[in-house]
Amino acid sequence: MSIMKILETMDYGIAPESTDEAMNWLNDHNKKLGQFINGEFIQNKKAKYFYTYNPANGEKLAQITQGTEKDVDMAVSAANIAQDAWSKLSGFQRAKYLYSIARLIQKHSRLFAVLESLDNGKPIRESRDVDIPLVIRHFYHHAGWAQLMEDKLSDYEAIGVAGQIIPWNFPLLMMAWKIAPALAAGNCVVMKPAEYTSLTALLFAEICQQAGLPKGVVNIVTGDGKTGSLIVNHKDINKIAFTGSTAVGRLIREQTAGTGKKLTLELGGKSAFIVFDDADIDSAIEGLIDAIWFNQGQVCCAGSRLLVQESIADRFHEKLKARMSKLRVGNPLDKSIDIGAIIDPSQKIRIAELVKIGVEEGAELFQPEIPMPKKGCFYPPTLLTEVDTAHHVAQEEIFGPVLISMTFRTPGEAVALANNTRYGLACSIWSENINLAMDMAPKVIAGVVWINCTNQFDAAAGFGGKKESGFGREGGIEGMHAYLKPKYEKKLKAAKVQKPFELKTKNSLATVDRTPKFYVGGKQTRPDGGYSQAVVSAKGELLAHIGKGNRKDIRNAVEATTKATGWTNATAHNRAQVLYFIAENLALRAEEFATHIQSLTGNSKKDADKEVYASIERLFYYAAYADKLDGAVHIVPVRGVVLAMPEANGIMGIVCPDESPLLGFVSLMAASISMGNRVVMIPSQTSALMALEFYQILETSDVPAGVVNIITGNKNELAQVLADHYEVESIWYFGDQTGSTMVEKASAASLKRTWVNNGKSRDWFDNKVSQGKEFLNQATDVKNIWTPYGE
Ligand code: NAI
Repeated sequence: MSIMKILETMDYGIAPESTDEAMNWLNDHNKKLGQFINGEFIQNKKAKYFYTYNPANGEKLAQITQGTEKDVDMAVSAANIAQDAWSKLSGFQRAKYLYSIARLIQKHSRLFAVLESLDNGKPIRESRDVDIPLVIRHFYHHAGWAQLMEDKLSDYEAIGVAGQIIPWNFPLLMMAWKIAPALAAGNCVVMKPAEYTSLTALLFAEICQQAGLPKGVVNIVTGDGKTGSLIVNHKDINKIAFTGSTAVGRLIREQTAGTGKKLTLELGGKSAFIVFDDADIDSAIEGLIDAIWFNQGQVCCAGSRLLVQESIADRFHEKLKARMSKLRVGNPLDKSIDIGAIIDPSQKIRIAELVKIGVEEGAELFQPEIPMPKKGCFYPPTLLTEVDTAHHVAQEEIFGPVLISMTFRTPGEAVALANNTRYGLACSIWSENINLAMDMAPKVIAGVVWINCTNQFDAAAGFGGKKESGFGREGGIEGMHAYLKPKYEKKLKAAKVQKPFELKTKNSLATVDRTPKFYVGGKQTRPDGGYSQAVVSAKGELLAHIGKGNRKDIRNAVEATTKATGWTNATAHNRAQVLYFIAENLALRAEEFATHIQSLTGNSKKDADKEVYASIERLFYYAAYADKLDGAVHIVPVRGVVLAMPEANGIMGIVCPDESPLLGFVSLMAASISMGNRVVMIPSQTSALMALEFYQILETSDVPAGVVNIITGNKNELAQVLADHYEVESIWYFGDQTGSTMVEKASAASLKRTWVNNGKSRDWFDNKVSQGKEFLNQATDVKNIWTPYGE
């Protein structure tokens, strides 16, 4: 082509990246890769293999081993053997290994980038400039966390062996997000890469060898979902970290229920990309290109739902279409390519089917007339306009290069549309009015908000979702918590189940019959079912009949919490004042409550007094904390700030312990409402009557209607209803093992966050164990809000 011609068209030429080194690496392994277990590559003679392909041309790259039960057993055993010594190394010693891993990846960065693009189909521009640099940054950053564990996380310790399962969209990056914090915190790992993309994980295994990492600290077992399932269900694994589809995440939640395994899930998304009429339109268009066409749209936090203000919608769509017509789709190893290959033909079929459904439902399709490769697994950049919220494509994660667009008129409507999804991963907001953007940020339900930017990631900032996007955070101190447990946990003992006392006398003690009711929406309500149960004192006397709640009572209570949003939006100062007021009113009636405790438990007067005073103190404690869980400004390598804001979970279900009837109830209620949650409390059998007495205190303490609701009855039956309820966002359960298992299992449907005691009791008088950060962390979720500086 002549220079004149080039100047006329201004087309990009071809800039192919050499694949020689990557192919040499594959050839060195005879294109047949084994498992990395206990510091060595293992190839069992009887092993079954499957092929990994280059999606850009369909050619076979290498054979990968299908991990068997025996492989998983060996890997888990190696990790368990290594665990003790690894967790006992000093922070500095662990930091040196992580630092070394970071350095070594940096030295081989191009090999990693090329191998990743070959295996995954992502443009080399992205693997070279985004994936691998972020991987390196992750290991450097976490070398720092290993070092600072003793300084900053001294009340915590490693969980143990972590099973980690990752998807194919960011193979090495997802691996770094999981392995770096796990190792920094002192855990050993069994990692399973996705079956489509195992190559860079195995190259990473060689880096672990070169770094001299002790044997068994990192084990990499390849294979498909069956291998993943073996890891999830292995009895000697203490923690599961999963990134992938919501369907598999849900299954893992069910399978790990009641096992005591800690779990973090990073699942799908349908994130909104909101453009206001005062946005810098050209920047927003470029942002959108990145939001939805980065990695062919195979990104969990892809800005796949454009919400554009109606007044600029036509102009915006026009500009967008013009920009889409300049996107280059083709060989991922060509440095001038924008969009590479889709991971697998099955995924391409899925994308095409969803687009077809969208068009059938009335969406208008736009695909630019750009050259498309004749061979390989490619899908054109696609825009669907005229989409309605009820359409399939507005709700389903397409996980491909497909953007849907809707319009809005007011900020309120934008929030409503953004939140009209079962997911809650990310949101991008574009406006030159920072006040408006900052007002929107807390209102959208998402773990990450990007203001005038998109797809920003950094090791120092947490990433993770809400609702069906999963729970837990990766990155920063939030992510470290996912691999740590409080030191006190190992001291917790099995709870003694308090059986209701037997009735010994026939007559009620009360001279006037007492009928404590439920407390729902600030009012006393009768049980829907019309059933009651007797409360018997420790001496065997009938104290009262209290309501036996059912499904409908719980539904009413949850509905009451949905109306009490004012509490979540109230100032923290205001919430503190209410908590102090509750304490004040409890203090006024201390004698009466001590008498209740005595009769309900048979405890001495001294112990009962102690419990009331501890409850008053705990109310003071959480009143103090209401405006002191500050959040943070994360230090990331961009010109801008990342605000890490703790937010209330929202609607919580709380099932109270049998021990310390007043103090247990008060501790859980105060911790949760101090952070702005609205709660449905289910007292234990022993505390039920006391909880119903307690609402008189709530009524006189300015607690707004619907913030605290109390339903009594069969604890586990009611807990099941709460766990099943889609609107309950988080549930705490303090009871027996059966109830803990049931709550975790039932929560899988809505993927709500759970905190269960697995039948262990705690000393509610011990401040180290029964109040503090652990409770506050469980009552909140951190939202990371990215705001760049400058014009
Ligand atoms: P997937 O969830 O099936 O696979 C992710 C990982 O989980 C892989 O390593 C896989 O081997 C493993 N796995 C599969 N079944 C398992 C089981 N029963 N127990 C344990 N591990 C198991 O995702 P897939 O099939 O690759 O993609 C399907 C859809 O999932 C995509 O179209 C997309 O919508 C979504 N997805 C979301 C991702 C995200 O980052 N949120 C990443 C990948 C897929």
